[in-house]
Amino acid sequence: MYSDKVMEHFMNPRNVGEIENADGVGQVGNAKCGDIMKMYLKIEDETIVDVKFKTFGCGSAIASSSMATEMIKGKTISEAMNLSNKAVAQALDGLPPVKMHCSVLAEQAIKAALYDYSKKYNKTIEGLEDFNPDDDAHDHDHAEEH
Ligand code: FES
Repeated sequence: MYSDKVMEHFMNPRNVGEIENADGVGQVGNAKCGDIMKMYLKIEDETIVDVKFKTFGCGSAIASSSMATEMIKGKTISEAMNLSNKAVAQALDGLPPVKMHCSVLAEQAIKAALYDYSKKYNKTIEGLEDFNPDDDAHDHDHAEEH
C-alpha cells in the first residue's frame, strides 16, 4: 500500500520538532480527519533557512511533512509557496488515494507559517492575499479521493 519512500520517511522523519524564536509559525487542522499540524520556519533574506514540524497526523502526514520540509529547506519563500501537496506525494512515489488529504496538512501548514511571517514582518507574499489561517486544510482535488 505504501511506497518504500513513504515508509522510510515515516520511520525516520526529517525536521521534526520546534524552532525557538521562529519567524513564522503555522498551525492547521485537517477538515477530513481532524488531525493537526504545526510548522515552524526560520527565514533569512527571503530564504527558508530552517524548518521543523510537529503533527498529530497519521503516518502519511508524517511522511509527507518530512518530505515537504526537505523540499523547502534552503528555498525562497516563493518557491515554498509553489510547493503543492501533489508534488510532495509524487516525490514520495505516490500516496494511496484515501491518504492524499494527509499531504494537504503540510502544504497548508507551510502557507500558514508564511502567512504568520508576513504579518509579523509586515511583508506581502504573493498567493497569500486570500489566505485564511483559520480555515481547515481542504484537499482541492476531490477527484483523487475515490
Ligand atoms: Fe489525518 Fe492522515 S488521517 S492526517
